Amino acid sequence: METKTFRGMKCRRMGDSGLWVSEVGLGTWKWGDPSYDGSRVGDHDGFNILDRALELGIFHWDTASSYNMGSGNSERLLGRYFACRGSRARGQVVLATKVSNPARDEHEVEREFFPNESGSSRKYIMQAVDGCLKRLQTDRVDILYIHQPALMDDGSWATPLDETWAAMDDLVSAGKVLYLAVSNRTTSQIDEEIAALGSVASNPSRRIIAVQNWYNLAERVKVATEGKDRAEGDEQTFLNHVAQLNIGLVPFFPLASGLLTGRYHKGNFDASGRIVQDGGTWKDMFLTERNLNLVEELDRIAGKKKCSMAQLAIAWLLSHDVIPSVIAGVTKMEQLEDNAGAPLVEITKEELKEIDRISK
Ligand SMILES: NC(=O)c1ccc[n+]([C@@H]2O[C@H](COP(=O)([O-])OP(=O)(O)OC[C@H]3O[C@@H](n4cnc5c(N)ncnc54)[C@H](OP(=O)(O)O)[C@@H]3O)[C@@H](O)[C@H]2O)c1
Repeated sequence: METKTFRGMKCRRMGDSGLWVSEVGLGTWKWGDPSYDGSRVGDHDGFNILDRALELGIFHWDTASSYNMGSGNSERLLGRYFACRGSRARGQVVLATKVSNPARDEHEVEREFFPNESGSSRKYIMQAVDGCLKRLQTDRVDILYIHQPALMDDGSWATPLDETWAAMDDLVSAGKVLYLAVSNRTTSQIDEEIAALGSVASNPSRRIIAVQNWYNLAERVKVATEGKDRAEGDEQTFLNHVAQLNIGLVPFFPLASGLLTGRYHKGNFDASGRIVQDGGTWKDMFLTERNLNLVEELDRIAGKKKCSMAQLAIAWLLSHDVIPSVIAGVTKMEQLEDNAGAPLVEITKEELKEIDRISK
């Protein structure tokens, strides 16, 4: 696999495209107004973290129109950063955003959504991307994901796929979007979407270059089943399929929301952490007996390797050639600096086997 090193950070190409991304990226899901969803990164800390990210060579940044409870405030924060730092910073960053989830204006979070304010219709995709560009204060998105597959109750697509992908193709022709991507998809959905894009694309260079699915050491099954209730293949089948298609897999929740950083041990939870602060569902989902046992085992391995558990979790993801970049979310500068060290952690074949034994 071809790699580059920039400011000490290794970089890989996204799928078979010419687009380089930093092996450690930055997720900004929990950035924005704290009163909406417990987000804890505002402009002051956010700008400092973004400046430092560029110093560390972390230039693949991920957001979505719906982050901060559908308000777009994560995008707005990035937009204010680009407005402040100028076009040079914007040019240095690979900026990824997502549309299709319901999104409405700030201060409207109590309002119900109109029928065309979500999904993958031409109307919504076009107006959603215009909204992203406005909030991000830029004239183009580098990677545009369709966030969720919009499906009918029987699992069929809610919008004809040729309508969706012709709209995506037009966005590239208009220069508003550079690269196309999907999220929360199964292999069969990706196959159908590639076929649809192929049938409407204005030229063969229009390809899906990334899929963003839930994948981490504590959750190895969902990567293959997201987007549908029923299981479709397994982890390895999914990874092989995506690799064969030359699509980059960008895992979301790479640190299981912080579980895989060692801040939550049996009987000793970091009360300031997102999983505790967000309460109920998150605690039930992440702080299970099985996960807390896994944390003890990973703690032991990280201790032996003299790296942090977060670095081990990111390095394990990067041990898969199909994963070009890990967009870990951060709320503090020290987390960003810790994660930046992950590509230096080498995991041996024996360690990979041991990690498989404890995490599968
Ligand atoms: N496509 C999708 O549907 C989808 C869904 C979810 C997320 N995403 C994307 O994926 C990104 C990553 O997911 P995520 O942010 O939800 O979760 P994550 O990356 O699994 O975990 C991030 C959290 O882990 C903690 N953390 C990070 N680095 C740490 C370190 N070195 N030491 C200690 N704690 C550390 C922080 O917790 P505290 O907040 O407690 O400090 C941080 O907020 C998102 O930001 C978003 O861009 C996409």
